Amino acid sequence: MNASHIQLQPLLALFFFFCILTDLNVSSATCHVDDETGLLGFKSGITQDPSGMLSSWKPGTDCCTWAGINCLAGNRVTSLGLTGQPGIPNSFLSGTISPSLSKVIYLDGIYLQNLKNISGQFPDLVFGLPNLKYVYIENNKLSGQIPGNIGQLVQLEALSLAGNRFTGPIPSSISALTQLTQLKLEGNLLNGTVPVGIGHLKNLTVLTLQSNQLSGPIPDFFSSFNNLRLLSLHYNKFYGKIPSSISSLAPKLAYLELGHNELTGQIPRFLGNFKALDTLDLSWNRLSGVVPKEFANLTKIFNLDLSHNLITDPFPIMNVKGIESLDLSYNNLHLLEIPKWVTSSPIIYSLKLAKCGIKVNLHDWNPVESYFYDYIDLSDNEISGSPVRLLNRTDYLVGFWASGNKLRFNLESLRIVDTLKSLDLSHNLVFGKVPNAVSRLDEFNVSYNHLCGQIPITKFAATAFMGNDCLCGSPLAPCKV
Ligand SMILES: *[C@@H]1O[C@H](CO)[C@@H](O)[C@H](O)[C@H]1NC(C)=O
Ligand SMILES: *[C@@H]1O[C@H](CO)[C@@H](O)[C@H](O)[C@H]1NC(C)=O
Ligand SMILES: *[C@@H]1O[C@H](CO)[C@@H](O)[C@H](O)[C@H]1NC(C)=O
Ligand SMILES: *[C@@H]1O[C@H](CO)[C@@H](O)[C@H](O)[C@H]1NC(C)=O
Ligand SMILES: *[C@@H]1O[C@H](CO)[C@@H](O)[C@H](O)[C@H]1NC(C)=O
Ligand SMILES: *[C@@H]1O[C@H](CO)[C@@H](O)[C@H](O)[C@H]1NC(C)=O
Repeated sequence: MNASHIQLQPLLALFFFFCILTDLNVSSATCHVDDETGLLGFKSGITQDPSGMLSSWKPGTDCCTWAGINCLAGNRVTSLGLTGQPGIPNSFLSGTISPSLSKVIYLDGIYLQNLKNISGQFPDLVFGLPNLKYVYIENNKLSGQIPGNIGQLVQLEALSLAGNRFTGPIPSSISALTQLTQLKLEGNLLNGTVPVGIGHLKNLTVLTLQSNQLSGPIPDFFSSFNNLRLLSLHYNKFYGKIPSSISSLAPKLAYLELGHNELTGQIPRFLGNFKALDTLDLSWNRLSGVVPKEFANLTKIFNLDLSHNLITDPFPIMNVKGIESLDLSYNNLHLLEIPKWVTSSPIIYSLKLAKCGIKVNLHDWNPVESYFYDYIDLSDNEISGSPVRLLNRTDYLVGFWASGNKLRFNLESLRIVDTLKSLDLSHNLVFGKVPNAVSRLDEFNVSYNHLCGQIPITKFAATAFMGNDCLCGSPLAPCKV
């Protein structure tokens, strides 16, 4: 008895040793078999992966170490995140999202972003993932409708299907997703009206529905949103007035983008209370009346675009510390001058005041800062003098548009900086010759001026040169020798 006991001990020890070894093996070299199977199923749904995003996804290796995979507690996969690099042509995936991903039952996040060529319908497998909280399937080619039962995903905290090809309505059941902090459906082909139930999503900080074909009035449902920071509804077909409940977003809203719709009525006075507002885009609507004097209180505003509306004088004097980008073009404004609060901005990079009734001489306009200017559009005003001195101080200018003014200067003395891509000086009083440097521009127009002499070799059409005193050579008639 004694002897057998002695013999058993090393055997037991050996047994335990093996147990520990196998256990170590499980946690260090293999993720859960269901997760591996599910992910390999996803991989087999991918038909093209030219940049090798999934090259580390090899059967028999620990799937927790694969690119884009995160695991919790050793061996259960909790997130799948694959992101294509913008601007890199072969950074994409083709194929569809395989239903076998539903085997990866502990997934709490699916991030398939900028993969450009993933197609197919909305992945119904997400309905089988009870822990799923974050869905970002962005900038791919998914199509079809958003399923009507999307409201079953009550545990979701973020849903983005932005930049796909989804059609049809936004399902009204979406109002059941009350834990959502982000709802991003922009850049699809969604149509119909916005379900009023979205007003129940009180936790939203981000609501982006822009660049769809949504119509009807903007629902007046904003009074329950206490945390909304970003509201983007631009590039749709919304009509009617800006709803009054938007006023309740005043304490926190930083971005309000309602441009490129068919909105009418006046710009509401309450917008002047938006202390946190950084960006306001109301452009390309049919808003009328004056800009409320309360706008003077928008001290934080950096980007203001009210262009292409029916806004009338007077424009309020803004108390901004610095504006980065301003567009008031094509309204019914008669500013007479470039506003002083613009001239004094130390950080401005884009100034667009086309057809704003400005009558200055450019010699008298001395912006505090001109170094950061990328875009200046002063078209269709009554501006006289010469832009030579201004463009001598704008080292990074990309576009200068000043057609339809009374600018009188020698084109040969205008500095064409390396960054410049667009130059439109048509319908002015410009004289001299066309310099060779314009040939590297993408867009150029000096029609209807007083230029003379041989045109350098460029790619521009004859209409870019017509209506001058004595320009000649291709694309106009040959010069007389
Ligand atoms: C995108 O995917 C489709 C279908 O999966 C395929 O036919 C096409 O070649 C892919 N496009 C590119 C640019 O690879
Ligand atoms: C939603 O808001 C409620 C109440 O403010 C809060 O208790 C809850 O944690 C929030 N949910 C999320 C996902 O932020
Ligand atoms: C939405 O678009 C579909 C075509 O994709 C069309 O059949 C339907 O009538 C449209 N609905 C609305 C409300 O415009
Ligand atoms: C700007 O805000 C102050 C208080 O913050 C208020 O007293 C004043 O009336 C406001 N001005 C305008 C023009 O709304
Ligand atoms: C343009 O700037 C240079 C210095 O950078 C200066 O020498 C020149 O006089 C300026 N020309 C005009 C027309 O202001
Ligand atoms: C140049 O401007 C004229 C007048 O505005 C316009 O008719 C013509 O189409 C323009 N040409 C080019 C090439 O932009």
